[in-house]
Amino acid sequence: MELAALEKEIIEWDLSTPEAQQRFRQRFLKRGGVLDTLLGQLKDFPPAERKERGSYLNRLKELAQQRLASTQAAQAHQENPTLSDPTFPAFYIEAGSRHPLSLVEERIIRIFQRIGYTLADGPEIEDDWHNFSALNFEPDHPARDMQDTFFVDPARGILLRTHTSTVQVRVMERQKPPIRILAPGRVYRHETISARAHVYFHQIEGLYVDEEVSAADLKATLEYFIHSFFGEGTKIRWRASYFPFTEMSAEVDIGCLICGGSGCPVCKHTGWVEVLGCGMVDPNVLSACGINPERYAGFAFGLGVERLTQLIFGIPDLRLFGQNNLQFLQSFRGYAL
Ligand code: PHE
Repeated sequence: MELAALEKEIIEWDLSTPEAQQRFRQRFLKRGGVLDTLLGQLKDFPPAERKERGSYLNRLKELAQQRLASTQAAQAHQENPTLSDPTFPAFYIEAGSRHPLSLVEERIIRIFQRIGYTLADGPEIEDDWHNFSALNFEPDHPARDMQDTFFVDPARGILLRTHTSTVQVRVMERQKPPIRILAPGRVYRHETISARAHVYFHQIEGLYVDEEVSAADLKATLEYFIHSFFGEGTKIRWRASYFPFTEMSAEVDIGCLICGGSGCPVCKHTGWVEVLGCGMVDPNVLSACGINPERYAGFAFGLGVERLTQLIFGIPDLRLFGQNNLQFLQSFRGYAL
């Protein structure tokens, strides 16, 4: 039999149905099929022809096997694309998600990094000097009370820091102006845990000290931040306030994002929510940290990460941040702020 004709037959055989495949298998691949029979008759050929004919027949057998296998693979792929196509996207793998507080903290940091702030860090277990005294707290200030502060060693004044302003002190003690830092971190307060208060939360402290720093710089910086974070149209209200370590002190409110100013539980029906505290660093604090207040001035601000996160995501209860509830955490999957 003419082998070239057999090759053509193998290539052109219609394999679209299982029955056609079965016939193909019987004709070319089974024992007693045409290729098998021809291989068996090889011994009748002169040795010179035998070798070439034998390898041709073996190639035809391989060709038939390949045609059948690739047709069946293509059909399996059509029925179930994910199983058989190596170019198909991989199987879904359960992915983690960023904690909303991390998302918000990183966004705040990026906004300040754009105007030259660098990161600073400090310990969570602090001493009285860095948490209170250097920051101009009077000896009988109520925040020094055990009611408000967790003490690790009350006799030696070792405590869990109640604010990130401790990092201001540490940076000013070791660095000369110009200083422009941002200090994110966890802080602790002796509170009853509720939807609105927790024993720990996260702050971000900012500090800028240089010659000729003014309240106008403070105002421009924080307005830049608020408009970058909450959006250009956000309404801002400045309120005079008091902190021992700043002189002039202020708190900043924004127009409530939930109700747009008409009044709701989040803004306690005032239309405004407080977002940060700030002020010009008190000259006593500069002196305590070894910086000459005659030559230098500075401003500082502190903001609560939980508070901002609650506002932009509409999270009603502070306790959700620390409960490791999977449903809550997974709702932030894929978020990039
Ligand atoms: N440390 C203040 C607080 O915890 C916030 C603050 C920081 C206020 C810096 C003014 C300047 O309430």
